[in-house]
Parts: sequence; structure tokens; C-alpha cells
Amino acid sequence: MTPNLKSFIIYSSSIFVLFLAISFSFSRPNYYRIQQLKLSLNSRHPTFFQSLLSFLLKTPNPDQSHSPNPISRAPHCVLWMAPFLSGGGYSSEAWSYVLALNEYMKSLEKPSFKLAIDQHGDLESLEFWEGLPQDIRNLAIRLYQTECRINETIVVCHSEPGAWYPPLFETIPCPPTGYHNFMFVIGRTMFESDRLTSQHVKRCNRMDSVWVPTDFHVSTFVQSGVDPAKVVKVVQPIDVNFFDPSKYEPLDIASEGNLVLGAKIPNSNPRKEFVFLSVFKWEFRKGWDVLLKAYLREFSSDDGVVLYLLTNPYHSSRDFDNKIVQFVEDSHMERPVNGWASVCVIDTHIAQVDLPKLYKAADAFVLPSRGEGWGRPIVEAMAMSLPVITTNWSGPTEYLTEENSYPLPVDRMSEVTEGPFKGHLWAEPSVIELQALMRHVISNAEEAKAKGKQARKDMIRRFSPEVVAGMITGHIQNIIDR
Ligand SMILES: *[C@@H]1O[C@H](CO)[C@@H](O)[C@H](O)[C@H]1NC(C)=O
Ligand SMILES: *[C@@H]1O[C@H](CO)[C@@H](O)[C@H](O)[C@H]1NC(C)=O
Repeated sequence: MTPNLKSFIIYSSSIFVLFLAISFSFSRPNYYRIQQLKLSLNSRHPTFFQSLLSFLLKTPNPDQSHSPNPISRAPHCVLWMAPFLSGGGYSSEAWSYVLALNEYMKSLEKPSFKLAIDQHGDLESLEFWEGLPQDIRNLAIRLYQTECRINETIVVCHSEPGAWYPPLFETIPCPPTGYHNFMFVIGRTMFESDRLTSQHVKRCNRMDSVWVPTDFHVSTFVQSGVDPAKVVKVVQPIDVNFFDPSKYEPLDIASEGNLVLGAKIPNSNPRKEFVFLSVFKWEFRKGWDVLLKAYLREFSSDDGVVLYLLTNPYHSSRDFDNKIVQFVEDSHMERPVNGWASVCVIDTHIAQVDLPKLYKAADAFVLPSRGEGWGRPIVEAMAMSLPVITTNWSGPTEYLTEENSYPLPVDRMSEVTEGPFKGHLWAEPSVIELQALMRHVISNAEEAKAKGKQARKDMIRRFSPEVVAGMITGHIQNIIDR
């Protein structure tokens, strides 16, 4: 490792048996190359090493860095730094931008910038990396190797501001060498409550620009003290070609789900149940308590409905069945005489390629969240032409309308009681209104279908990859032209 490299890679090796660096090497003062892959390698994951070794082997050796290179052709670079290898919200959001931009740039005769990526902001996950399609992995390798000049590079730090330079936890910093030698530095982030912490405001104001996904965020960021001149709305793309209902058969969800409440639906039963689907991490913010309360109060086993919850742990254990049964007991709900309406939990991993089939198996999507940055499952459901019922507050207000969905009214604001945003406010969705809307979509099937159709139209018109990549390219061009 060169001394330069050492100076800005912060890591602790305590839990890792092996550490390879993917990072920047400054072979010349004004020039860097992504030279090595930083691998935080867990001993239990030898195949991670193998799969990423190919990464390293394809990396040109440092001696070649002085030979003529592609820099002269497209002078500027956009270096997108995000948790690309981690999975999770920021990861899938970052991939959606990079894939959209990469496609869009192919359609341009003479792109005015090159695209580079680097891992930043979270730990790498073997499962996630191996689950990526081969073409995306190849693209990742290619974009890791893009060569850029620091002074002609626009950096996008796509992560929570605690990861920005200097990072508050172990990660490659973004921007890698501080704020001054790059051409322009953009922070891309979002929050789910009504304000930012003062620490986050400070970190945002160090950036040349802060990109947020919605008007809700423009207003919460500015009200919290982020320089209004820096805040720019950049919406998220949704892959409407992948999430296209005409391309899929429904998943057999009855065999995926784990019945927690209600009667088992006999395989021979010819009656088609009305299927509500919800997709979320198991955290209070997602309003699973509100959903269960509304659903179990409104329906009984006579109604021919079933609620599927696709969930995974978030700082919690995996025994969702017990949590649900416990919740029902604690909230003193009265069991209907005919028995509870069915609730099924899917806590197995549904591969990305099967996700559209899951939406396809549902009749409506429901998520009474207390706050959302954007709400990826919501827009995925909308792209799949499902009618959605979701809280009309925070991120989703960017795209919910009376014509394309069932915006769920809010009773009041409530205080966040734990975690880093303790004391902030978010929304309490109305249980009564949720009951009414769930009943309504069942009783008005035609109207619900029409809203689902409109939802897909709106997703294509406003958030398709070409549309969003075009907007981003415009922003980048403005930065280059200044
Ligand atoms: C960046 O630095 C290189 C080498 O010093 C120089 O040739 C180039 O003009 C600089 N670019 C900008 C945009 O200042
Ligand atoms: C949703 O919220 C927006 C503003 O936050 C408001 O204008 C709109 O009327 C609301 N829609 C519904 C159905 O409550």
C-alpha cells in the first residue's frame, strides 16, 4: 500500500481474516485509478474470495497506468459511491441509477462523462453479490475500473451522511480525499422523519449539492437548515420493464407462506381468495401493528381474504409468527365468531427475479408506514399495476394521487421514541380509514383495477429509467458547463 492510500482507508481488521483493498491509488498527484477491490472478507465465505478474485485479476496492473488511456476521450467522470455490494435500500436505489445511466449513455452519440462506481457506506454481502445476475456483476467490474482525473470528477456520495468524509464508522470515505480536490461533490440521501439532526445538516452543507428524492425532502432539508441553493430533487427510477405484469405468471404464494392466523385454505378449495400483500422490514416504522389491527378488525374467516406479509428482520429476531400472536393477544382484539381472517408470513428469501411474480399473485398492496424515504416496494407494486393503499405522508406523496392509488389519511403526527431520530415526528396512519379502504378495494374491484392501470402509466411516464437518466444527465451537464 502506498502511504497515500493508507492515509484515507480507515478500517479495523478485528472481525475480518482477510482484507484486500479496492480503493484509490494516487500514482500521480492529480490522477487516481481504482486499482484494487476492497474486500472485507469473512472467514466463513471462501467463495466470496473466489468470486471477487476474478475482479482483481482483471484489474490492469499498476505499470500500465502511464500508458495512453481513455481519459482524453470523455474528460469528465461521474464517480458514484454507494453500498453497491451490500443489498438493502441505498444499494438497490444506487443500482437503479447506475443501470439507468449506463443504458442511457449508450444511446448518446457522445457522452460528456464516463461513469465509475465504488463500494462505500456499508459492508459487502456475499449473498447479495452472488445473487446479482452475471451481466450486472460484469458491469460492476467494468465500472470499478474506469479511470478518472480527480479534478475532472463529479463524486456522488450515495449513503447516509454519517458515511461521508470523515466517516463516523468503518467505510471508504466519500469523497475519498476530502472535499476540495474534486470538481464537484454531491450527497445523495433521504430521511423518513419530519427533520434532520444538526449533525446531518452540517454534513449536507459541506457538499456542493444535495440530491433528495422528493419535494417532501426538499422541504424537510431546507426547514432543518440545509442551504436551499444546494438542495435538488432527483427522483428514483423504477425498472418498469422488469416490473411489467404482462411478463409474469403469479407465484404460488400459498406454498411460500406460513399460516399464522386463520384457517388453512384447502388446496382443493376452488374459491379465489382476495390477496392483500405487504412487503417490509420488521420495524415499528413500517406500521405492521396498524396493518394487523385494521385487517383483523375488519375481516373474519368468512370474507375470503388473506394477508401475506413478506418480511425480514431489522435488528430483531426472526420469530414473526410469535410476534404476531403476541401482538394480537396484547391488543385485546376479539376473535370473530367465525375465526380470524388468514394471515400468512413469508420470511424466506424471495430472489429478485421472483419478486414480480409475487406482486402478480396479489390483488392489492398495502403498507400503512409511518414514514418512507421513497418506498421501493410501493412503486414496484404500482409498476406491476396493483392498487396500493399506503400512508399519504413523506416520500410517497411524490407519486400518490387519487387516480393511481388509495392514499391513506393520517390521524396525527407522533414522536419517534427510539433510535437516532428520537424526538422527531412522523405520521400515525388512520386504522379506521385503513379498514375502510381495504374493504373498499374488495367491493370495488373494477375501480381498483383501473387505479392499478393508472399507477403503471404514471410510473412509466415519470420514473422509467430513460426519463430519470435523462434528468440526471441534464444536472451533470449543467455542473460541467458552469
Ligand atoms: C486537471 O488536471 C490536469 C493535469 O494537471 C489538467 O491538464 C486539466 O486541464 C485539469 N482539468 C481541469 C478541468 O481543470
Ligand atoms: C395527501 O396529502 C397531500 C399533501 O400532503 C394532500 O394535498 C392530499 O389532499 C392528500 N390526499 C388525500 C387523499 O388525503
